[in-house]
Amino acid sequence: MEASYTTIRDLKLKVYTTKERTHMHEENSLIKPKIVALFGNPVKHSLSPIMHNIAFDELKMNWFYFAFEVDKRKLEEAITGIKTMDFRGANITVPFKKQVCDFVDRLTNEAHFIGAVNTIINNEGELIGDNTDGFGFVRALIANKLNIENEKILLLGAGGAARAISYSLMKNYECDLTIANRTLLNAELLTQDLEEVTMKNIKSYPLNEVFRIISNFDIIINTLPVDPPPRIIDSLINNSNTCQIFIDIRYGKMLSKYFKALEEVDIKTMDGKTMLLYQGVLSFEKWTGVKPPIKTMKRALL
Ligand code: ATR
Repeated sequence: MEASYTTIRDLKLKVYTTKERTHMHEENSLIKPKIVALFGNPVKHSLSPIMHNIAFDELKMNWFYFAFEVDKRKLEEAITGIKTMDFRGANITVPFKKQVCDFVDRLTNEAHFIGAVNTIINNEGELIGDNTDGFGFVRALIANKLNIENEKILLLGAGGAARAISYSLMKNYECDLTIANRTLLNAELLTQDLEEVTMKNIKSYPLNEVFRIISNFDIIINTLPVDPPPRIIDSLINNSNTCQIFIDIRYGKMLSKYFKALEEVDIKTMDGKTMLLYQGVLSFEKWTGVKPPIKTMKRALL
């Protein structure tokens, strides 16, 4: 069974047919339905369609969100299709976030810096490539009432997610940032790029050595596709540290073991679900100009 159907049922929401939904919206909107697409491969496990469609439903908006599994050789045609079919926009997911930069008409500053697009807005035929991952992360921090201002932050990783998060952190806060990465050169390249756009001083460090200075940091953010090196976790558990918050942008069962160990020594943890929610909230706001029902969208991710 498809994951999305199970989720709808679990949520105990009424599943409307397209005919019912169009009819339901008629009284509120005489304009034709608006469509937003998700392009990726695979897409069938994505929670975005249900997250956006239940928000459209709750606001009685005549909008629909559809997921399309795109062949990588047809990506350009799919993106052109946004204009041809007058979609309001799209989300882009793996593996196309970088490639799609070449097929939009313009990039926002965020998307340009990150080198990746997760949201396209079709402004009367002009496709704007944007990226809401970094600001989604910042909105997640605000929602969780986490203070970043003047804090000493360690970011693990220097890939796409780290670029998005570090850019938004440095643009929004006065904080002291260190980037640790397996390949030190990649951390140094990111640091240089960030210093150029923010005019702030940022440090880089080898990932396998950073456990030695772990007590310097108030907040640690893991953007790696794997658990942080065990020596980092061991140092946090066995020594007295300043670290109060540990964030991992992944979510699911894989985090439970090391999160539990950190929580036992009173370190607060946050996983990537809230970031996922708020990158969606930001995309929704950019397409519709309307604030979505965040609690309802959150239920779709549970
Ligand atoms: P994303 O876009 O999701 O951030 P990415 O751009 O492929 O993914 O970046 C992956 C990051 O995780 C990089 O910082 C990478 O380190 P390198 O620059 O040395 O390649 C890091 N990474 C990936 N696998 C890792 C592993 N097994 N151990 C440590 N770091 C890893």
